[in-house]
Amino acid sequence: MSDFEEIINTRRSIREYTNEDVSDELILKILKAGMQAPGSRLGAEPWEFVVIKNKDTLTKIGEIKPRVTNAPVAIVLVANIERAFYKTVWQQDMGAACENMLLEAVNLGLGGLWNGVAPDEERMIKIGKIIGIDDISDLKPYSIVTVGYPAEGWENKFMDKFDETRIHYESY
Ligand SMILES: Cc1cc2nc3c(=O)[nH]c(=O)nc-3n(C[C@H](O)[C@H](O)[C@H](O)COP(=O)(O)O)c2cc1C
Repeated sequence: MSDFEEIINTRRSIREYTNEDVSDELILKILKAGMQAPGSRLGAEPWEFVVIKNKDTLTKIGEIKPRVTNAPVAIVLVANIERAFYKTVWQQDMGAACENMLLEAVNLGLGGLWNGVAPDEERMIKIGKIIGIDDISDLKPYSIVTVGYPAEGWENKFMDKFDETRIHYESY
């Protein structure tokens, strides 16, 4: 198996982590992987990222997204609509970045979780307020990627999700 196949096949949603800190160097690699994702218009991608390690902030976010509370770091993905060329497809742009980040986390020996925020407006507003966004018309909290070293029993491992009945050739 190539490294790539190993990463893509063993990535799991890791919801519990050890207390070990994730270095800024690794966090930067994850952010870079996010920004390498395909976007609806090259040079006009909406993504921005808020990196949070502060325990009080993590706890506050945890009241809305419980899995964030005990993570060593949470990265809030924010779509800045003013940056976007195609302004209606920000959720697709952000999803691509989010998945890239989760795969890079596995590559670095970490575990990650996609904590959904958008499109639930109430959640977007609440998360926005915590991170300093008062108005979500142009700055939209999309998701929160938590990363950390997987706690015991939460390791990345292969799970077979293949389902032949989902595949259609030539027509539906
Ligand atoms: C859009 C989206 C939102 C998600 N939100 C959450 C979430 O809020 N909390 C959570 O524990 N997992 C969340 N997940 C992770 C899924 O539950 C997980 O990917 C799914 O159960 C499959 O497991 P796997 O990631 O290990 O393959 C989300 C995944 C996606 C794609």
